[in-house]
Amino acid sequence: MYRPFDLTGKVALVTGGNGGIGLGMAEALAQAGADLVIWGTNDEKNTAAGKVLARYGKRVASRKVNVANEAEVVEGMEAAISLMGRIDCVIANAGIGGASPLPELTTELFHKVHAVNEDGVFWTFREASKHMIARAKDGEAGGSLVAIASTAGLEGAARNVAYGASKGAVLSMVRAIAVELARYGIRANSIAPGWIATDMTQRAQDDDKFNDRVIGRVPMRRWGEPEDFGGIAVYLASDASKFHTGDTFVIDGGYIVF
Ligand code: NAI
Repeated sequence: MYRPFDLTGKVALVTGGNGGIGLGMAEALAQAGADLVIWGTNDEKNTAAGKVLARYGKRVASRKVNVANEAEVVEGMEAAISLMGRIDCVIANAGIGGASPLPELTTELFHKVHAVNEDGVFWTFREASKHMIARAKDGEAGGSLVAIASTAGLEGAARNVAYGASKGAVLSMVRAIAVELARYGIRANSIAPGWIATDMTQRAQDDDKFNDRVIGRVPMRRWGEPEDFGGIAVYLASDASKFHTGDTFVIDGGYIVF
């Protein structure tokens, strides 16, 4: 019987899991059988997302964690492991935009974007790795670290110097982690979404010119949806991907190859 996508008994943590792409992935993970921990900075959104996820009958915990705050990440990871007993898959999805023309890009904005998109991923993965390595040394190798980067980390985008640099850093960080932790059976991979309809892109979604010129050029001729990330989340959390590490999955309806 081939059932590697069954996540029963596994625990997944999704940062920024209370909305957008993060919630899309969390919903798929819960339906595939995983217990879930979601982190977000907004209590109301955490509670609402917790209710959505609880419908699938798995254990669900949410916690207010700002991934740009090292102490909150350290405490949040300890709390998640002690509450759920283990963490098998960590999806570092929390991220913010920060568009600005280069001459006006302030140091403050540059660092604010990097604090969430780069430092947040680093702290989240560092803390998760301690738990996964200790478990491997006790005889149970495995674990999956997944970063949500962006096609902005692969291609150039005007007014996206801070955001693109932070996402490029994540792509490199994941490759380094993949090589360092492979000996423990721990995988590290990135996902690079293209244009996805979430709160982050609301202004662009409302802009007719953008829809015509940009979304009109997406070979699939549509915005991506959070649910488009369910399959890759389940694959990377599952044993089906146990030999797959150091990769970048571009999910963009064909935009960057066109
Ligand atoms: P979103 O704005 O709907 O969701 C972002 C999530 O991150 C929210 O749950 C938010 O509460 C959380 N978050 C933000 N700052 C946080 C912090 N400091 N600590 C903890 N949580 C925090 O946006 P979306 O689109 O779902 O973004 C998810 C990821 O996908 C981000 O990393 C984003 O950069 C990336 N992405 C999005 C694309 C798009 O077109 N929507 C394209 C490429 C990448």
